[in-house]
Amino acid sequence: MTADRPPLADSVPDRLYGRRRGHPLRPRQQRLLDETLPRLRLTQAQAADPRAAFGMGDVPLWLEVGFGGGEHTLDQIAAQPEVAYIASEVFENGLCALLTRLVPEGAEATGALARNLKLWPQDARHLLRALPEAALDRLFLMFPGAKRRFVHPELLPMVARAMKPGGVWRIASDDPTFQAWVRDCMGAQEFFTLGSLAETRPAGWPPTRYEAKALREGRQPLYWEWVRR
Ligand SMILES: C[S@@+](CC[C@H](N)C(=O)[O-])C[C@H]1O[C@@H](n2cnc3c(N)ncnc32)[C@H](O)[C@@H]1O
Repeated sequence: MTADRPPLADSVPDRLYGRRRGHPLRPRQQRLLDETLPRLRLTQAQAADPRAAFGMGDVPLWLEVGFGGGEHTLDQIAAQPEVAYIASEVFENGLCALLTRLVPEGAEATGALARNLKLWPQDARHLLRALPEAALDRLFLMFPGAKRRFVHPELLPMVARAMKPGGVWRIASDDPTFQAWVRDCMGAQEFFTLGSLAETRPAGWPPTRYEAKALREGRQPLYWEWVRR
């Protein structure tokens, strides 16, 4: 590890995410993980030069942390074919939910895949640490679990290091405790300035499953854009 890549702070809880596996995997899900995921996976070695892994030239690079069912990812890669998009998720059923919508049954090993998508099926913090400095044009943290404090004073230098000056970090949450946490934590740092804060989903923000659940259950989401100085 080089000196300009801050280590994960010991005081930051290592288990930011919940379960890696929910229900036992069905045969189709197992095939998606065995045959499709390796074709889309960004490797640890490729993380040092992610644009080269896409082979799309010097295009914008976006990263989504914790894509859940993958709705936001699928909308973004379709709407932004000239953006190289890395989607990260640790939960196997989430990975399968996205993969199942990418390839038809029977074509797990051979079906054509979007050229602008790579998956990081591990803790996104490890990718942030491995990326070159100022690699990311955008970062998405959509409805993280309430206790999963990806926004953390000890992680912010690592997030900031990976982002381009002027790059945008989108955060959405329906959880009042997390909303207050974002306000306090981001109010006390100097890497990002507030670009915008909205109570209704701004144009260009694809909906997600957790957002739909929050709205159904009467919670008020907030949508932030933080701009890297
Ligand atoms: C509450 S869900 C929201 C899913 C989706 N973004 C949505 O809005 O529907 C949060 C997701 O983040 C994932 N997650 C949490 N910490 C993570 C991390 N450090 N790296 C990658 N994924 C993570 C969890 O597995 C979970 O699927």
